Amino acid sequence: MFLGAKKRTLSVLGSTGSIGVNALNVISVCPDRFTVRYLTAGRNATLLIEQARQYRPQAVAIADESQYRMLKENLSGQDIEILAGKQAIIELASRGDVDLVINAIVGMAGLEPTYRAFRAGRDVALSNKESLVMAGEIIMNLVKDKGLNLYPIDSEHSAIWQCLVGEDQKNIKRLILTGSGGPFRTRPLAEFDKITPAEALRHPTWTMGKKITIDSATMMNKGLEVIEAYWLFGVRPEQIEVLIHPQSIIHSMVEFCDGSIKAQMGLPDMRLPIQYAIGYPERLPKAWESVDWAKIGHLTFENPEPVKFPALRIANEALRCGGTAPALMNVVNELAVYAFLENRITFPQITGMIETALSKIPIINKPSLEDILNVEPVAREFMASIIDNERK
Ligand SMILES: NC(=O)c1ccc[n+]([C@@H]2O[C@H](COP(=O)([O-])OP(=O)(O)OC[C@H]3O[C@@H](n4cnc5c(N)ncnc54)[C@H](OP(=O)(O)O)[C@@H]3O)[C@@H](O)[C@H]2O)c1
Repeated sequence: MFLGAKKRTLSVLGSTGSIGVNALNVISVCPDRFTVRYLTAGRNATLLIEQARQYRPQAVAIADESQYRMLKENLSGQDIEILAGKQAIIELASRGDVDLVINAIVGMAGLEPTYRAFRAGRDVALSNKESLVMAGEIIMNLVKDKGLNLYPIDSEHSAIWQCLVGEDQKNIKRLILTGSGGPFRTRPLAEFDKITPAEALRHPTWTMGKKITIDSATMMNKGLEVIEAYWLFGVRPEQIEVLIHPQSIIHSMVEFCDGSIKAQMGLPDMRLPIQYAIGYPERLPKAWESVDWAKIGHLTFENPEPVKFPALRIANEALRCGGTAPALMNVVNELAVYAFLENRITFPQITGMIETALSKIPIINKPSLEDILNVEPVAREFMASIIDNERK
């Protein structure tokens, strides 16, 4: 849908996170183009209060109900509706009086808001890749049936989307998703047991939230992105390849049937894909530095190492298995990432637990949304039992 120069009214779900803050930065640079109607957070009430004072939304919601009083006290007299709890986030995501919902919530908590925003007939700029990993078929069918738009924010998918402008889908030979390789690309596998959360949180090229930073270190992030690309671009799994590109300048590429390859490039800065998604189909002027090619000097490429980083194989297997397998993989990964950050399991155990869960928990074919949402309690119980057993 082309909205021309009309001012767009936006919701920013997950406004207190890395993508949410970047989205608000992009919005601030173009106040004549965008206005914020709703903001939501998980538990960072302090930042949400600051953002509410700056952007003057109609309503804010915080998932953590214990923060409600703090919000109420600090925003009293501001004419801002204040809501709290998981259902409040979903309710704000479903309000129909916005042009576009930006979903920058991390993890499985983002799925229902994505689904409900589309159900309400809204277009969505989607950063929450977990929505598509868990329920890609349900969401893409909803988008199609209602004639809506899903604008990807993930830099790789934004790159592919940009490469496909003006192209015929049937001419795609393969999608090449690039990835930096994370902080452990050159570390020997024998040392993986000793990896600490602090080391895993030091990403070489991107500054991001904790969960995606650990996903990048295990390369599960690339696995999630393969599944995301499958649903977004309608290609076969074997047409999606992953290539390690440590400089993170080429954000992804598309090869066409005649052998021609298009790449989208830029500095590793999420403001660009966010701005492209919320401004589409226009390209808005940038407010950040340009690529200094001579300073970068060279771009290099290598294949991922499957033994060191089994996550890519696991994600491909889950995609091919279908049903609730990708949702199960995603939920167990998320729980394992937080267990690793709390020093309850080792780095290699993150992917180890996903493989165990996929081999032990029955997969449901053709799942409903309810079946997919039910994966979480089952996976939690399973994870608790294996972590307890390993401690004994
Ligand atoms: N960061 C990047 O550069 C990047 C790039 C590509 C894709 N992505 C994707 O974008 C999404 C967000 O990533 P991020 O790095 O911005 O994460 P983040 O910095 O951890 O921020 C996550 C946001 O979600 C909110 N949140 C957390 N738990 C919630 C819950 N249970 N209910 C409602 N809101 C909740 C957080 O609120 P509080 O902070 O208030 O708790 C925060 O606003 C992820 O799906 C990620 O894979 C991120």
